[in-house]
Amino acid sequence: MPPAAPPSVTVRVPAKINLHLAVGQLRADGFHDLVTVFHAVSLFDEVTVAHGDGPGIEVFGEGVTEVPADETNLAWRAVQRLAEQAGHEPDVRLVLRKGIPVAGGMAGGSADAAAALVGLSALWKLDLTRDELAPIAAELGSDVTFALYGGTALGTGRGERIVPVLSRHPQHWVIALHRGGLSTPKVFGELDRLRAGADPVDRPVEPVLEAIAGGDPRQLALSLGNDLQAAAVSMVPDLRRTLRAGVDAGALAGVVSGSGPTCAFLCSGADAAMDVATELAGLGVCRTVRVAHGPVPGAKIIENAE
Ligand code: C5P
Repeated sequence: MPPAAPPSVTVRVPAKINLHLAVGQLRADGFHDLVTVFHAVSLFDEVTVAHGDGPGIEVFGEGVTEVPADETNLAWRAVQRLAEQAGHEPDVRLVLRKGIPVAGGMAGGSADAAAALVGLSALWKLDLTRDELAPIAAELGSDVTFALYGGTALGTGRGERIVPVLSRHPQHWVIALHRGGLSTPKVFGELDRLRAGADPVDRPVEPVLEAIAGGDPRQLALSLGNDLQAAAVSMVPDLRRTLRAGVDAGALAGVVSGSGPTCAFLCSGADAAMDVATELAGLGVCRTVRVAHGPVPGAKIIENAE
């Protein structure tokens, strides 16, 4: 008989886009104050944590050559941090299966860290709630807390303070993945350079919150906005062409996702999203396209094998 597989927990965790991202001035700690609306969409990573013969991390899927498979990976830092808090040895194996674009502005690394926290809490039978995991998530990175909860949420502080936003209406998206990635700190730095010390332009969040409550994608399309878009476009000028092509293909609006270079296009429904995706895929303005919907739940256990 083959030896029994060691106990393991697998967690599915979504990508995020920002429906609204207003970036304040650079703070003394190197971060920027944000007012953002996070929205979890149906592109997922799967993270398995397992008891094993020694610690380790393996990465599979799209863009794996760009993902560190060592202790510098944020998901591994999440393991170490929870191990410290719980008084455990971090003697687990971590397997990341990537479906979220790497360095794409969709918080894939943060998602994996959130999934590792949820998975380990179950594997070690700590049974911590999301609210109990949130402070560790916030320490690990600005987007990790949101990946725990998913849905649609208002984020403040550096992005780690989360308040859920009720949205009963699903929205349909085409996600255009770019060739190559962008470094988040460099995009924030480029925004500071473009602003050259001037005050940020006022970008009120109320219109996007009203549009989410109303559920009409046409109203939401009018209120999408991201202060980091100008910086991402300045660093990757081709994005201008991608953004225009999506709207020409029939999307209601397009926006750079977070720090980019992924672009998200809002569509009037699921069929329209398929049409836009098909047309955009044929234009050569991006590496590949995906259709997605949101909001979807945050990090969630899909298999618990004792
Ligand atoms: O928190 P996280 O590790 O994701 O942030 C990565 C980098 O992005 C930070 O080191 C900082 O340069 C930039 N950042 C920022 N303001 C934020 C979030 C991130 O300047 N609110």
